[in-house]
Amino acid sequence: MQYICIVKKKSIMKKSLNPILKIWSNLEKKSKRPLLARKLIILPFKKFEKKIFFGSYQEREKIVKSLYSGDVYLLKKAFSKKFANDLIKGAWEINKNEKKGFHKIKENCPNFHRLIDEKITKKYSANHVKHAFYFFPWNKDPINMYEKIYKKWRLFKFLGGFNANEYENNTPKDGVIDRFQIVHYPAGAGWLETHNDPYHNQRVIISGFLSQRNKDYKTGGFYYYKKNKQIIDCDDYIEAGDMLTSYATVLHGVSQVDSGAKVNYNSPKGRWFLGLYSNDSDMIKKRKTTKSKGKKFLTPKLPMVNNHAQFI
Ligand SMILES: [Fe+2]
Repeated sequence: MQYICIVKKKSIMKKSLNPILKIWSNLEKKSKRPLLARKLIILPFKKFEKKIFFGSYQEREKIVKSLYSGDVYLLKKAFSKKFANDLIKGAWEINKNEKKGFHKIKENCPNFHRLIDEKITKKYSANHVKHAFYFFPWNKDPINMYEKIYKKWRLFKFLGGFNANEYENNTPKDGVIDRFQIVHYPAGAGWLETHNDPYHNQRVIISGFLSQRNKDYKTGGFYYYKKNKQIIDCDDYIEAGDMLTSYATVLHGVSQVDSGAKVNYNSPKGRWFLGLYSNDSDMIKKRKTTKSKGKKFLTPKLPMVNNHAQFI
């Protein structure tokens, strides 16, 4: 089997003409990557986009420094609620019409969907239960979403110090590929333990929200760990169509959705999410993946009662 040499990936980073890269490089030389969140900052997606693409050096530096200090940005109204719902409907159609499967990310890897239950999760580095629908840019676009999503994704690539269209035309032989993921956290089962993500291909993680608490599910959702075991309960502020970003190493997870509800994997009930990630392909010998921190940082029950965290 042929593996990709790491030198090639470094050369991709060097080619970037993005002025934000220098800000990151200076910070990363000076201090450690953040592990804990500092605060949640909420602003319209459009305003954030303008600051990153057209802002002054000082404006960009302020945001980069804030992310590197652990701040989490919830960006309102990135997509319409209709588009969010179309993604859910599209994924569920795929579930009805196409068999579940699994494929390593090698050349010509097809789109596929997989139910990761309590048994299959043991094959992964972090414990979780979800039904994941994976899509790759070299394949057909069955939900007609790639370009609409790429228009948003490019902002986060640029923010991370890369070219706005970095990796878009890559295939597994290039070592890094873009993977769109629509995720269903089924009611009564879906969750993801506390972890952090690799930062080498993108620096910031990118979440899109397709459903919302108190409408599509009652309990559970996305959280971050702050200092002194304090928790940010993101779903308190999230509506379908919002996006969120933070530095990849800041601890986060998903508290079980509608814990205690009867589990039915044949129902779309629960929480839906869009994950955008530039992954190492399976052509890389030592793929960097998610790191579990669930033993030390337990998953909280959400929503919290009187601002007091209880852990599962
Ligand atoms: Fe993550």
